[in-house]
Amino acid sequence: MTDLHAPAVRHFASDNYAGVHPEVLAAVAAANVGHVPAYGDDPWTERLQDVVRAQLGEQAVAYPVVNGTGANVVALQAMLPRWGAVVCTESAHVHTDENGAPERVGGLKLLTVPTPDGRLTPELVARQAWGFGDVHRAQPGVVSLTQSTELGTVYTPEAVRELCDQAHALGMRVHVDGARLSNAAASLGLPLRALTTDCGVDVLSLGGTKNGLLLAEAVVVLDPSAVDGVEYLRKAGMQLASKMRFVSAQLVALYEQDLWRRSAHHANAMAARLRAGIDAIGTLQVTQPTEANAVFVRLPADVAQALRRRWRFYDWDVADGTVRLMCAFDTTEQDVDDLLAALRSAVGGTGPARTTPV
Ligand SMILES: Cc1ncc(COP(=O)(O)O)c(C=O)c1O
Repeated sequence: MTDLHAPAVRHFASDNYAGVHPEVLAAVAAANVGHVPAYGDDPWTERLQDVVRAQLGEQAVAYPVVNGTGANVVALQAMLPRWGAVVCTESAHVHTDENGAPERVGGLKLLTVPTPDGRLTPELVARQAWGFGDVHRAQPGVVSLTQSTELGTVYTPEAVRELCDQAHALGMRVHVDGARLSNAAASLGLPLRALTTDCGVDVLSLGGTKNGLLLAEAVVVLDPSAVDGVEYLRKAGMQLASKMRFVSAQLVALYEQDLWRRSAHHANAMAARLRAGIDAIGTLQVTQPTEANAVFVRLPADVAQALRRRWRFYDWDVADGTVRLMCAFDTTEQDVDDLLAALRSAVGGTGPARTTPV
């Protein structure tokens, strides 16, 4: 059995299995000088404000936090009254993977819609954006979309703009869970603001950890009129880091220059390589377009088991055998080629489509 903790092993489970980018560690080390005021009143957090303004527009204000669930909960709470509700997909991280934190901690109702590819559309939003003024219904106040989506797909700027226009016309606001916004922007060759500020997005959970940071994300308010009390909610929500300079230093390292794009572009390219290799095998069904850094593929149970001797990856749908293979900033071509070789060998060459039940 391979030692799953061997330092040279790089898995395909999640981009948060990866280590920390050396440039980020260097930035943390560089911030480790002397005493500075705690709780964000420090030069690194001040510099981060310049960085987000440069990336996301003059109105942008960043509130660094320590994880993505916290970013989403603080953002959504700040955008909604106690009687508010969030329209999102059934596959949204806020719905599936946050242990109900938006409901439990935020006190918010989630109104979900099924989506085949992780993307919301105005038609899907309309299924839940109704009942305004009806005292019996939690009031839909925010549309939350994930970019890139939980299914590895990407919204175009036009699609985001359409959702923002619809939401605003209904008196709602738009939140983007941007845990992998960098992957979407790199995939489309666009600046971050082209998928957010310029489309009318109100509040962004800006990712970091998935793209080579140690422990850093941020709530970024793009329209100040969309929120109330972010700083208080961040503290009450236990997301106010006292040694914030080290959180901010990571975000500055990622977003000040082009590290975010380099790293995301690389992760996307590795996923594209993996996808091409899987397609070339010819007998496996890929279930989603590969537009960012994840590949979703149905594997016969024995094939998945064979791969699991060396690598970790997540079951996405146990019933139909779909797994998620995710690439990170440090995934190498060799890693991908090794996985493909093992896959080819487990599948048994390029014969006719397998009929083994999964
Ligand atoms: C789409 C999305 N949003 C947010 C998060 C943040 O989660 P965490 O609280 O683990 O940092 C994740 C992590 O898996 C994610 O995939």
